[in-house]
Amino acid sequence: MNLSIFFALYFLVTGADAFRKWHPYGHDYLAHIGCGIYISRTVTFADTKNNYIKFCNNRNGLATMVGCLADANYNSTRMLRYLQMSCMKDFEIEVPWENYTTAYSYLLQSGVTLKLLRDRKYNSTKERLKTPVYLNKTMSTLYVKAEQHYLDIYSNSMYYGIGTVAYWGLVCVIGAIANWSMILFPSLRIAIDGRVSKLWRKWVTLPALFGKKKTAMQRLGFFSMLIPSRIESIVSLLFIALLIAVNAAELHFLEGDPIFKNSRKYALIKYFSIRTGVVCTVLIPVLLLFGGRNNFLMWLTRWKYSTFVAYHRWIGRWVVLMAFLHSVGYTEVFIIREQYAEEMAENYVIWGVVGTVCGCLILFQGLLYLRRNWYETFLVIHILLAVFFVVGTWYHVIRLGYGQIMFAAVAVWGFDRIVRIARIMMFGFPEAQVTLLKDKLEVIVPRPRHWKPIVGGYVWIYFGDMKYFWQAHPFTYMHDENNVMLYCTVHSGVTEKIAKKLRANPSGPSMKMRVTLEGPYGTSSPIEHHSDVVFVAGGNGIPGMLNEFKHLLKKQDCKQRLQLNWIIREAFNFEEMAKYFAELPLLNAEVNIYITRPASFESPIGLDASNDGDYKTEAKSDTLSGISLLQSDYPELNFFSLRPDMNTLVQKDIDDAANSVAFVTCGPAVMVDELRAIIVEKIDLTKKRVDFYDTVDVWN
Ligand SMILES: Cc1cc2nc3c(=O)[nH]c(=O)nc-3n(C[C@H](O)[C@H](O)[C@H](O)COP(=O)(O)OP(=O)(O)OC[C@H]3O[C@@H](n4cnc5c(N)ncnc54)[C@H](O)[C@@H]3O)c2cc1C
Ligand SMILES: *[C@@H]1O[C@H](CO)[C@@H](O)[C@H](O)[C@H]1NC(C)=O
Ligand SMILES: *[C@@H]1O[C@H](CO)[C@@H](O)[C@H](O)[C@H]1NC(C)=O
Ligand SMILES: *[C@@H]1O[C@H](CO)[C@@H](O)[C@H](O)[C@H]1NC(C)=O
Ligand SMILES: *[C@@H]1O[C@H](CO)[C@@H](O)[C@H](O)[C@H]1NC(C)=O
Repeated sequence: MNLSIFFALYFLVTGADAFRKWHPYGHDYLAHIGCGIYISRTVTFADTKNNYIKFCNNRNGLATMVGCLADANYNSTRMLRYLQMSCMKDFEIEVPWENYTTAYSYLLQSGVTLKLLRDRKYNSTKERLKTPVYLNKTMSTLYVKAEQHYLDIYSNSMYYGIGTVAYWGLVCVIGAIANWSMILFPSLRIAIDGRVSKLWRKWVTLPALFGKKKTAMQRLGFFSMLIPSRIESIVSLLFIALLIAVNAAELHFLEGDPIFKNSRKYALIKYFSIRTGVVCTVLIPVLLLFGGRNNFLMWLTRWKYSTFVAYHRWIGRWVVLMAFLHSVGYTEVFIIREQYAEEMAENYVIWGVVGTVCGCLILFQGLLYLRRNWYETFLVIHILLAVFFVVGTWYHVIRLGYGQIMFAAVAVWGFDRIVRIARIMMFGFPEAQVTLLKDKLEVIVPRPRHWKPIVGGYVWIYFGDMKYFWQAHPFTYMHDENNVMLYCTVHSGVTEKIAKKLRANPSGPSMKMRVTLEGPYGTSSPIEHHSDVVFVAGGNGIPGMLNEFKHLLKKQDCKQRLQLNWIIREAFNFEEMAKYFAELPLLNAEVNIYITRPASFESPIGLDASNDGDYKTEAKSDTLSGISLLQSDYPELNFFSLRPDMNTLVQKDIDDAANSVAFVTCGPAVMVDELRAIIVEKIDLTKKRVDFYDTVDVWN
């Protein structure tokens, strides 16, 4: 938490610093540039270089400039002071003040008109003037306006970009208020459980977007995906609408615009390319912040990592889309300017292209299909591409004056990495006892005294083996005074490699192994003030549920009615964990164990959070003797040889509840989604307060 506050400050400081170092173009500056372009396109002066130095040390150039500014109504004292200052700053020429005050009268005295020059067939490449020039007043004004209109696009793009960042700030503040008010003032839960609140939760904050699928993926083969919840979808959609508005706002053509040679198409393409480029860059720090494990906003809002990852993905898609449109737009601009070859050879353009290409690749390499099947490969490539995206963008924008934003982005990323290392160091590298059970690994890790667990949280484990020490895997845990206990289903990655090692171990499937834990992450469910709490665990979802259940048992003084339901396939699933059920102080609390396939001992496939699992398989009711044995060994627990009907279970618990009931669940995705759907349906059919907390955090 302290770290979070520190990180929040750090983020705000680097962000504010980025903004402080950025300046919008002042209108005086732009007036002088506008006139400069007009004059340079029209005439040249003798005895001077053909750049802006002519408006400092060349009397005629200076007088023509002052005349142009006077035409555009910009010849205030402040403006002339600005000219004097910029001569000092850009060319280190100290121009006496009276050169400015006398310039206008000098123009009146000796100026020639454009008409005169035309009549003389004046050609600016051939002839250099020794007099100041009266310009065309209409054109002077137009040039100044056009330049201001053009460069205001840059400044406004920055403000619009900051607006999109502020949107996320606002969303997070609303989330923080909603979630923390329930923690700090638990009685609010009942107090504001009116019709509106119930309907709001029923229709907006709780349900899956459509139907039931939230934790379970939408199967579409190669294009399978996780669908954000309804509220996440609403937040993302509003963000997208905001981005569309922001990218289109105020991009209009100034009639007769001389800077863009009166080409509407050229001007609009350029404006749009600037806008997409700047807004894209400003969002990058937020993109990286949301992707990090140690994002301080998680502490502020109490949202899950998966929520931020969902937003990370949506921001990422649009950042890349904007980068892409920016690139296409500028390609067109270069072609219109007939500078394609030269521009594309410029370093900053090359880095921009690198960034855009890497960004586009990320969109494809990040598909769920690839993440699910080759997670570690996905992760390594994702990080490499992201590094190149960030570095490319940094080199691209640094000379355009937006380097500070990328500095903030990299700072955010670096901070996340540093905190990870610090957490690992704080945990140390103890020797864990790793044992292969039937279908999972039991990892018992001695914990340092100062390590503070989060009840219901999770940790990332690293195994000390040269081949996979760089991999981190998230697991929920149980803890006691001395140890942290993980139960890891054996899949085909690291878990399988360790299982193999254990199988090959001559002295049995158990050995000491150096590990470290990074964490804890996650938040506890706010369930300490409900009159009734019902845990529903499926398969390997048990460690976190059991940990929260035990924690409440210890705390509740029998004031809360507690119920733990655990749905497993076979008796051995229970037996492996039986030691934790031995001496539970079950007063005003019950534990129900549902064994869905009591007779089949041949399929050792457990259920775990990240898999859909077919927990719906019907119970067989052959031999139930195993179960009656269990029942007599653990008389205080209730064993059932069936799959519970969730609907009935939920309804009964709502009916039995005193005044409020929290359902907390962890288990196979399909089960969690079904439970959510059932509770969403019932939430407004009772006077009691009903809450649902799914502790499954699936981001991949
Ligand atoms: C918050 C959280 C808590 C979890 N708690 C438990 C638990 O208590 N018990 C349990 O058995 N499993 C748990 N899991 C799932 C567990 O993290 C994966 O099963 C494990 O990482 C698989 O490792 P593997 O190398 O054998 O996987 P592989 O065989 O390579 O892949 C199997 C599946 O795990 C996913 N996966 C692989 N590596 C990671 C990773 N580093 N981060 C996220 N997903 C990954 C893959 O996308 C794939 O779907 C939890 C997952 C999350 C996100
Ligand atoms: C300022 O004006 C004086 C008088 O015209 C001229 O001699 C001098 O060179 C000017 N100074 C600069 C820096 O141009
Ligand atoms: C500004 O321009 C006006 C004419 O538009 C002129 O009368 C005035 O003297 C100019 N001021 C300066 C400081 O040159
Ligand atoms: C001015 O002179 C240059 C060089 O001699 C020539 O190429 C150009 O066409 C001339 N411009 C006009 C408008 O006559
Ligand atoms: C000034 O320029 C405008 C637009 O090009 C033109 O219509 C107008 O005739 C010009 N005025 C003079 C005095 O040359």
